[in-house]
Amino acid sequence: MLECKNLSLIYKDGNKENRVLLDVSLKINKGENVVLLGPSGSGKSSLIYLLSSLRKPTSGSITYNGVNLETLKNKDTSKIRKENFGLIFQMHFLIPYLSVLENIMTAAPSYNDRYLERAQQLLKDLRLEQYSHKKINQLSGGERQRVAIIRALVSEPDIVFADEPTASLDHENAVSIIKMLKDYKENSTLVMATHDTSILSGNERIIRVENHGIKEVTSQIPTA
Ligand SMILES: Nc1ncnc2c1ncn2[C@@H]1O[C@H](COP(=O)(O)OP(=O)(O)OP(=O)(O)O)[C@@H](O)[C@H]1O
Ligand SMILES: [Mg+2]
Repeated sequence: MLECKNLSLIYKDGNKENRVLLDVSLKINKGENVVLLGPSGSGKSSLIYLLSSLRKPTSGSITYNGVNLETLKNKDTSKIRKENFGLIFQMHFLIPYLSVLENIMTAAPSYNDRYLERAQQLLKDLRLEQYSHKKINQLSGGERQRVAIIRALVSEPDIVFADEPTASLDHENAVSIIKMLKDYKENSTLVMATHDTSILSGNERIIRVENHGIKEVTSQIPTA
């Protein structure tokens, strides 16, 4: 469903080049739980930005359900993203002066009862219903992280991109969040970057990001 071919990302800083990813090719199938592991600075977040079309590659292509995202106008890529992708960022990017519910609804394809009900259900599932009208800056780090997760799931996306989604959660909460990200709907697809291998259960496809490239890992649960 999502395929990238010969993807490179080179950040330019004046005359200096930071070659983050070089010639990366990857095919992600519907229903897979893909986990990106690798040292800090290796390019996990960058790869998530590229795959979710938030950043354009220096070269290479990304195809989603047969559509080459490079050929689309910005507004068409945003539409695909809003309707099909759920995004959980490493720095949550919640809007501090909006309420929990308002933040969640920014990711709904439209503001209607269907998505409001879904938001309320997710708030209940993650034990945040009593916070729905609170402003983000009144919440703890772990509560904010759960709001960011609900925002990613409200549109019932086909694929969730999650960048360190459990970084501010205790182990028990982290394990139940990962289960939710894997099972939020039938045939859901997850692409997640993490440092925490203790949350893995063995049904993931592990990919290591290192030395400007990626490597499939075949052993059961590797160490970070
Ligand atoms: N917007 C940017 N402009 C320039 N360089 C960037 C930018 N974003 C990231 N980088 C650089 O790209 C490299 C990869 O960063 P990235 O955030 O993808 O790593 P990461 O694997 O997610 O690390 P971490 O585990 O710390 O989150 C780093 O060297 C970083 O400094
Ligand atoms: Mg990162």
